[in-house]
Amino acid sequence: MRFARFFNSAPIGIALLDSKGRVVNNNGAFAKLIGEKSFRKKSLAEFIDEDMRPGFEDAFVQANEGQANIIAVEARMASGEKKIAQLYLSPSENLDGEGAGAVVYAVDVTEHRVLEQKFGQSSKMQAVGQLAGGVAHDFNNVLTAIIGFSDLLLAKHPPTDPSFQDIMNIKQNANRAANLVRQLLAFSRRQTLRPSVLSLDETIADMKILLERLLGERVKLEVKTTRDLGFVKADLNQLEQVIMNLSVNARDAMPDGGVLELATGQVSHSEDDELGGGIMPAGEYVYFSVRDEGVGMTQGVMDKIYDPFFTTKEVGQGTGLGLSTVYGIIKQTGGFVFAESELGNGTIFTVYLPRYYPSDAENDDVEEEVEDKPADLSGKGTILLVEDEEAVRTFASRALQSRGYNVLEADSGVSALELIDEQDPDIDLVVSDVVMPEMDGPSMLKEIRKRNQNVQVIFISGYAEEAFEKNLEEDEEFTFLPKPFSLKQLAAAVKGAIGS
Ligand SMILES: Nc1ncnc2c1ncn2[C@@H]1O[C@H](COP(=O)(O)OP(=O)(O)OP(=O)(O)O)[C@@H](O)[C@H]1O
Ligand SMILES: [Mg+2]
Repeated sequence: MRFARFFNSAPIGIALLDSKGRVVNNNGAFAKLIGEKSFRKKSLAEFIDEDMRPGFEDAFVQANEGQANIIAVEARMASGEKKIAQLYLSPSENLDGEGAGAVVYAVDVTEHRVLEQKFGQSSKMQAVGQLAGGVAHDFNNVLTAIIGFSDLLLAKHPPTDPSFQDIMNIKQNANRAANLVRQLLAFSRRQTLRPSVLSLDETIADMKILLERLLGERVKLEVKTTRDLGFVKADLNQLEQVIMNLSVNARDAMPDGGVLELATGQVSHSEDDELGGGIMPAGEYVYFSVRDEGVGMTQGVMDKIYDPFFTTKEVGQGTGLGLSTVYGIIKQTGGFVFAESELGNGTIFTVYLPRYYPSDAENDDVEEEVEDKPADLSGKGTILLVEDEEAVRTFASRALQSRGYNVLEADSGVSALELIDEQDPDIDLVVSDVVMPEMDGPSMLKEIRKRNQNVQVIFISGYAEEAFEKNLEEDEEFTFLPKPFSLKQLAAAVKGAIGS
């Protein structure tokens, strides 16, 4: 009696198998694991996922032959919630006179495996992101130089010059490469963000014509807006990139045409509701979803979609950067992206962004548009230019000299300080790279401040601004110029900083 109670209320599953591997007795926990109602008198192997069946069958044969110390096997159930269990088999008493049969102890490890997988996925993404970011950063330096020297050449060759078109071509191609680098940086979350207060409905409405052109005639775009949709704070260009990448994928998934639905909405998410698979912190979110009626994806494909360069498309059709860019941008914006897909029926991607409540001042800003007016970008003053990448330094130096500035060059933070200590020049502005060997830009600035309180500062970097802001004194004021930049952007930043 007492043993029957132990057996029935045990927290781990226990079952008795006969010599054919059929379940002859089991407790409640075991029944829960199986995920199927009638399994008595049936072979347990039938209820285990096919790919994991051989492992179990091996262990059963050993138990049936009376062997002890059988290594535990893992098995995923074929039906119900498809629970994963660690199965410990041991020989049992003779039950039906044929073979010995076996006792199975089953421990539910489903949650462990899910967590392990999530952890594995996120650390993999981080490693790949770091690699991509590193490459992209170095590449940015190269591109800054190419774009910069093209600018210098263009200044010397008027449009009537036979070389003008060639130089233009070089510059345009370098810009294309810069775009690719931007995608990689977005993925590795080291992209420079320019967040502004946005309404997703407006953003989508503004993109409608572009999207329709992108989708072609066979795919019909349906937009579902939401009344009083909350705001989000995000970089507009990047958000457009996200919507575009998801829409293009949806189009590609519907080669015979269909409907692409772009919908928005908002939710208040609490810790215990199902939304977000347990990884989204509680809070208010604004979301948009991209739904297609396309081919759908297998679980195998779903597991890899955010990996850079993962694509199922033919060579030349896709680079596999679309979704990794989406992932990086959304993560950097503090949001979440989820995909659900059914083979043959379609896919829906949903992007959640934290809802943002703008202050009154920001509300006014939303309306304001900045105008690009041609300006006189020449000026006077002494600039200390610190940059370890020679090509970038040469270009920037020549560009600034041609605008009338006196430029002192240093190839590192250390040599910049030496220059100051030896020559004691009257510096108006420091233009400096952020990441440099030996002494980085922010540390160098701290030293310079000890000698000259009032100097203005422009940091140039391929990394995002937040990446180094924490290394600076709290009230430090500086201008930030992301790489790659053009001659004009550099001149405008310098003019803005010393305004002479
Ligand atoms: N809506 C969708 N329906 C079906 N499969 C999709 C969908 N979106 C993405 N996929 C799958 O995910 C893969 C990766 O997508 P991703 O956007 O990262 O790269 P790509 O579209 O192949 O190439 P790229 O976007 O760089 O041109 C695709 O090749 C496709 O197999
Ligand atoms: Mg794509």
